[in-house]
Amino acid sequence: MRRIASLMLALAAILPLKAATDYIQNVYGRQIQMLNGKWGAIVDQYDRGLKKKIYANPHPKGKTDFYEYDLDGSSRLNVPGDWNSQRQELRYYEGTVWYGRHFTARREAGKRQFLYFAGVSQRCNVYLNGQKLASHEGAFTPFQVEVTEALKDGDNILVVEVSNQRLKDAIPALQFDWWNYGSITRDVMLVTLPNRYISYYQVQLDKHQPDLIHAKVCLSEAVAGETICIEIPEVKQSIKLRTNTDGIAESSFRVKRLERWSPEHPKRYEVRLSSSEDAVSEQIGFRNIEVRGTKVLLNGRETFLRSVSFHEEIPQRMGRAYSEGDAAYLLSEAKALGVNTIRLAHYQQNEYIVREAEKMGIMVWQEIPVWQDIDFGNTTTCSLAKQMLRETIMRDVNRCADCFWGIANETKDGEARNAFLRELLQTGKDLDSTRLYTAAFNTAVWDKQRKCFHLDDGMIPYLDIISINRYMGWYSAWPLPPAECRWEVASEKPLFISEFGGEALYGQTGDATVVSSWSEDHQEKLYRDNIEMFEQIPNLCGISPWVLFDFRSPYRMHPDHQDGWNRKGLVSDQGLRKRAWHVVHDYYLRK
Ligand code: GCU
Repeated sequence: MRRIASLMLALAAILPLKAATDYIQNVYGRQIQMLNGKWGAIVDQYDRGLKKKIYANPHPKGKTDFYEYDLDGSSRLNVPGDWNSQRQELRYYEGTVWYGRHFTARREAGKRQFLYFAGVSQRCNVYLNGQKLASHEGAFTPFQVEVTEALKDGDNILVVEVSNQRLKDAIPALQFDWWNYGSITRDVMLVTLPNRYISYYQVQLDKHQPDLIHAKVCLSEAVAGETICIEIPEVKQSIKLRTNTDGIAESSFRVKRLERWSPEHPKRYEVRLSSSEDAVSEQIGFRNIEVRGTKVLLNGRETFLRSVSFHEEIPQRMGRAYSEGDAAYLLSEAKALGVNTIRLAHYQQNEYIVREAEKMGIMVWQEIPVWQDIDFGNTTTCSLAKQMLRETIMRDVNRCADCFWGIANETKDGEARNAFLRELLQTGKDLDSTRLYTAAFNTAVWDKQRKCFHLDDGMIPYLDIISINRYMGWYSAWPLPPAECRWEVASEKPLFISEFGGEALYGQTGDATVVSSWSEDHQEKLYRDNIEMFEQIPNLCGISPWVLFDFRSPYRMHPDHQDGWNRKGLVSDQGLRKRAWHVVHDYYLRK
């Protein structure tokens, strides 16, 4: 499958400084026709589908023509959902699959209609009624394409060419420690909007002030003088704004007796936005998140981040999580552990998870999958990373639970990488300067002379929080007893332990001092030792065990203990809590 045209990346670069002409935010709050369900699927291992015109889904007409495929008659795959877990023979498949389905639609005069994809892994081309309409690169962010002209009244054939091929210049690149799920892994819908609609808006509390709300509303057209109304009925707030020549209206206003969102009190308000042709509303929470010295302050109060990570995966299904129910399951297990934060590893996870975390009162660290070895010298790769960060922020900008944007995981210090990450930071801050920016480093080293961990990295001055992945007792032996292992890392900033832990096969017992026992005894001791060490770190602002659930990975091939699973979970692939789960739970009760 051919790669996305760089034009698509360049187009994304202008959002949302100008009117976001075809962007859709808060899609679930819009008039939508879900296109989920059983789609026809053709595995195209040698990429012959384009030449064979699968996108047109033709059927023989005369006596002499024939086609060696038929989307209508082919076997079915569920959308949303990865193909790896739906068919045994596709478990390891990397390549192209052509998806197709018919749907009945009604064109609506004076309206604009779009196809919206919440996530397609990893890249795709979209065809409607035989016409190519869009391409998208990036498995974890939504995109939309206008179909107002291409849509037919009645029957339409939608065809999506999907590839999960790993590529050196993609994000993530050729290597990553999670399953390379392919497919239309999230919701697909037809969205109908007014001709001139509210395409993008930010309604956020000021970074530092407890009662000052900043609002920015973009129309889908660069038209001046349009009246925009913003209402928050519960606090009797209603303001009217006028758009500028870019179709953007901005204002700031104070609200008395605003209840700020927090894990303890996940308060949200109904916010209504309207223009002459459009009206949209949703629940929005308001909070301040900031750093002061080595502290993280939520609503002005020092907050210790009791975190954990999980992949967007339901272990019992051995497949991608994609539904509201999946989100509720993953987050309820995290909440039971006692977290107030979740690090959604290592990529932007679906909107249900972020909205559910907000409802449950869990702060969220979202990140883009700039994971280890990325082609940092490649400008197209950098544009792709900026597109992903932009698409993440634009989707979630009104999600007060999103407190941290992670821009990289375990990348190596160097001029190309630092320039790449600084560009990412600039892209993020141009869109949203209220959240805290961080990156996870695995390059903290033990200094034998000074008897402490320290980190030299050119990106430290640019980040709000310094995050460290360090596997003491698993990948690294203890140089001293845990309580004597000091840390001198970014002493003037908050230090977050973004990953630590070790593997254990649920129910396996063994010698707690032997790593290769893969025993719960060893994992439990490892957790006690690491927590004892972390308690000595003067600028510690939080910890995040890696990982809540055992997860699928082609990295992990030990025949007895792993068999394609990374076993660092505190919970097994069958949803059973290991002994280390209780060590973390008890610790979080004390924090
Ligand atoms: C790394 C990486 C994770 C990986 C983990 C592990 O720190 O960030 O994605 O799964 O180590 O080795 O289990």
